[in-house]
Amino acid sequence: MDSIRIGLIGWGTVGCGMLQTLRENAKEIQARVGVRMDVVRVADLDLDSPRPVSVDPHLLTRSAQDILDDPSIHIVVELIGGLEPARSFIMKALEKGKHVVTANKALLAHHGNEIFAQAAKCGRSVGFEASVAGGIPLLKAIREGLSANRLDTLFGILNGTANYILTRMTEDGLPFAQALAEAQRHGYAEADPSLDVDGIDTAHKLAIASAMSFGTSIRLDKVYVEGIRDIDLLDVQFASEFGYRLKLLAIARNTNGLVELRVHPTLIPERHVLASVRGAYNAVHIHGNAVGNIMLYGLGAGMLPTGSAVVADLVDLARDMTLGIVHRVPPLGFLPEYSSEMPV
Ligand code: HSE
Repeated sequence: MDSIRIGLIGWGTVGCGMLQTLRENAKEIQARVGVRMDVVRVADLDLDSPRPVSVDPHLLTRSAQDILDDPSIHIVVELIGGLEPARSFIMKALEKGKHVVTANKALLAHHGNEIFAQAAKCGRSVGFEASVAGGIPLLKAIREGLSANRLDTLFGILNGTANYILTRMTEDGLPFAQALAEAQRHGYAEADPSLDVDGIDTAHKLAIASAMSFGTSIRLDKVYVEGIRDIDLLDVQFASEFGYRLKLLAIARNTNGLVELRVHPTLIPERHVLASVRGAYNAVHIHGNAVGNIMLYGLGAGMLPTGSAVVADLVDLARDMTLGIVHRVPPLGFLPEYSSEMPV
């Protein structure tokens, strides 16, 4: 194999981050993988809006089908977000024998089991590191670095937009709407920002990370969700006066097989490490019975951090391919036969 051929569906913020990372670090990546990684097709309905990262016009198409139907493409990267047509594109790509990389947390939280069943049936792999916590390699840490542990607690800040809004309200006295507009301008927010401010994006990520941590099935419907829409400047000011910071927390606790999943604004004492997580940064605390407490911290949203996570999955898949590994066993929690029901 001379090169790994990649088709990108979705030339948006994260797509640009992936393209820029692949271009700037091509030499290092090739040294790690052993072959070239070439983006050979890029599909998007909108080919006219200006982007921070350009693409050779010969590679562009408005039709994702051009990528799905191209037998020379090894890996399809889905970065359009939302449930449909993203779900159909991924199911089709797997059926056509392609590996898939996606950053789509909503899709995995709703249809993860179905997608991984399809991957197993087709003997292909799905990378999804970029779906949770942006540039922090949280899922790889749970799956690989912590695989010797029984995990019982995972909590932290999993939405960069909400954390950016709360930080700007607290530190700069910015009204909610203005702070949200700035988060959108930075490219942190979802296409529909209500997913960020209403806690739903955090719930998607918590459902995925907790299923992997505890080996339970994904149960988005069991997550208690409350967002930050109703928080005003007085709330953050009072919190500060009493020595607290308001943060949107995701909390998962597994007590003897009973799993509790919650997303809600929480008062954190100023001296707690989570209180100092500012702007679009995320931080996640995990407890494992062998490792004890660990904390992961980094940018949870944005073009390059999320692009970095997408490319990390591409590198993993490329390494598998060069070794002749065609299918990775899905992580705990993503197939009925590998996961226990989640009593809540
Ligand atoms: N809208 C998400 C966030 C993007 O703000 O965290 C990264 O998943």
